[in-house]
Amino acid sequence: MTAREPHKGIIGRTFRDRMKHLLIVHHSPSPNTRLLVDHVTTGANTPDVSGVTVAAVDALEADSAAVISADGYLLGTPANLGYMSGALKHFFDVVYNDAVPATTGRPFGYWVHGESDVEGARLAIEKITTGLGWKLTQKPVLLIGQPTAEHLDECWELGAAASAMLSV
Ligand SMILES: Cc1cc2nc3c(=O)[nH]c(=O)nc-3n(C[C@H](O)[C@H](O)[C@H](O)COP(=O)(O)O)c2cc1C
Repeated sequence: MTAREPHKGIIGRTFRDRMKHLLIVHHSPSPNTRLLVDHVTTGANTPDVSGVTVAAVDALEADSAAVISADGYLLGTPANLGYMSGALKHFFDVVYNDAVPATTGRPFGYWVHGESDVEGARLAIEKITTGLGWKLTQKPVLLIGQPTAEHLDECWELGAAASAMLSV
């Protein structure tokens, strides 16, 4: 006798899949921004948290399926010309219509790195995620200048906290 196929929902996950999925969507084009996403991802994968899978995806490659099948999000971008990066904006442009209302109410956090002023990027991210209905569940990590050890710790904590929240 063959085992019955577990029922699959519209997003292809089975009811046996008890794991939670954290999606990190980022644009990290420089060594410093790469360092930040590496610390966020390492924190998200902390062995202190179980039951959570973590995927870090370039903002130019993330698609609606990845967003819909995730349970929570971390977003990372440089501040560019007083806004978020074009890459992160492209991500929102691509997934927005599919993500509303499928992902409404899901938790998210974010980080922004800049040389002098990240306020425009912060406002832009918060405006779009408000439209998506995502819930900001962690204090944003807003970083200026050469990343310090404290900055990297903040990034690690952002990732670890996002995973810990999904695991409960
Ligand atoms: C075209 C361009 C526009 C930028 N605009 C801003 C900005 O509006 N605010 C800011 O704080 N930094 C700005 N920056 C700096 C970037 O945020 C910074 O280069 C990025 O976070 C990567 O940091 P890194 O160069 O130290 O690796 C800009 C950089 C470029 C290339």
